Amino acid sequence: MEVNLKVAQLKAVKDEILAVGVLKDEELPFKELTRFLRADEFNGKDDQTAIISSLGRFDFKKLFLYGLGEQKEFDLDKLRRFSGSVVRYARSIRSTSLSIALPQINSINKEHAAQALTEGALLASYKFTKFKTKKDDLFEIKKATIVTEEKGLENAILYASTIASAQNWTREIDEHPANFITPKELAKVAMNLAKERKLKIKVFEKKDIEKLGMGGLLAVAQGSVNPPVFIVLEYNAHKKDLPLYCIVGKGVTFDSGGISLKPSKGLQEMKYDKSGATITLGIIKAVSELKLPIRLMAVIPATENLPSGSAQKPGDIITSYNGKTIEIINTDAEGRLILADALSYATKAKPEAIIDIATLTGLMKLTLGRHGIGLFSNDEELISVFKAAGGRTYERVWQFPLWKEYAEMNKSDIADIKNIGSEVGEAGSITAAFFLKEFIGDARWVHLDIAGTSMFAEPHHYLENGATGIGVRLVTEVLAELSSYGKGRDKK
Ligand code: BES
Ligand code: ZN
Ligand code: ZN
Repeated sequence: MEVNLKVAQLKAVKDEILAVGVLKDEELPFKELTRFLRADEFNGKDDQTAIISSLGRFDFKKLFLYGLGEQKEFDLDKLRRFSGSVVRYARSIRSTSLSIALPQINSINKEHAAQALTEGALLASYKFTKFKTKKDDLFEIKKATIVTEEKGLENAILYASTIASAQNWTREIDEHPANFITPKELAKVAMNLAKERKLKIKVFEKKDIEKLGMGGLLAVAQGSVNPPVFIVLEYNAHKKDLPLYCIVGKGVTFDSGGISLKPSKGLQEMKYDKSGATITLGIIKAVSELKLPIRLMAVIPATENLPSGSAQKPGDIITSYNGKTIEIINTDAEGRLILADALSYATKAKPEAIIDIATLTGLMKLTLGRHGIGLFSNDEELISVFKAAGGRTYERVWQFPLWKEYAEMNKSDIADIKNIGSEVGEAGSITAAFFLKEFIGDARWVHLDIAGTSMFAEPHHYLENGATGIGVRLVTEVLAELSSYGKGRDKK
């Protein structure tokens, strides 16, 4: 789907659908069509919809009204929900084209509003259909047009389209199951991206990983016939005067738990254990398309985690890339093992900051559910940039403490550290973060635990169920902010 801008009056719209957002108890537009609506049918309350035929009096066929709720509770995500909901409606009636009116709300910045409408529409238009063979399932909406009398919103729409399309691209890769995306196939995706975006790329294969001494990645991979890869991409690699940032994504293309096998219920969802990696790829794609003035290194350790005669066993002791020894207590805590190697690799480049993104602990689902990303960091400035960007993108973060007492829980009697903090999972997301902290040296660091947000079992306002790509907009926004790309852009 494409999102365009049209500078015109609403009554001049020619389209299948015209969608208009209405605040609670606000006067309804197009009186001649809406005057028969009773207040209990439609009064603009949150997420309410009404659909009215234009009866041939206008050049749009249907008027789609959407409730934006109370003015005082208004936020930009209401606009994503609004455009998302009209896109869903268009799909349900097989309309290939629709128009969306940019709401006139005094408190909102028009560029941010156009951006949010674009994001909601594009994200809602995405559905994973690659393996559907019936034509009916392949229906696609071609065009959404944002209509306003305001001029000059093209750039905001283009900016949002770039990021939301990168997020959809991420979702598409993430949806592919483990028999399609093995570590090697993920490397191919990265190589194609590198070619398309002119990024520098290194793909370390098993023998290289052995030479480097990445004991964590090798230990997790040793149970599978599909060998691991370690992928390093770099945007603006030759521009050494630009500040370097590093993003690290967990790429477990299937997590069975290994010898500490997971229960079979829901196990198919463990194809999404590569979300950190696919989001990382989506971020570098977006950043390179937006031409942000930074250098960006993306580091992806990729492997399967399977049980077999050659798999690692609880009790094993391994040596990670930075020389620390790790006692394996539970082979299902594999993400931190591969991230340990990747994080110490990243520190060698001495970046301004390291951001890791990982479906690290199932406990995230219990604490924040699907509504927030767990944030762990050693740097106050990064924390506040992330919180602000989380509010703007609605990919919200919630900060967890890194009190030193939690670090004690990872101590091993016989190695430097063990790979789980407690058998009962006490503070499991925090001890996992502390494990990672052992491998970042003195770098400024943010760890994002996306285990609760990387996939939705049920559809959401503008995200179908399945892979969400949540994190692409958040981290791209953070990097834009850090690179001061955003200078002059009004931040709300
Ligand atoms: N990939 C899982 C975490 C996960 C669980 C992500 C559910 C998304 C949904 C991770 O590798 C894992 O298995 N973690 C264990 C850690 C435990 C053994 C300390 C967990 O969360 O149970
Ligand atoms: Zn696991
Ligand atoms: Zn995992």
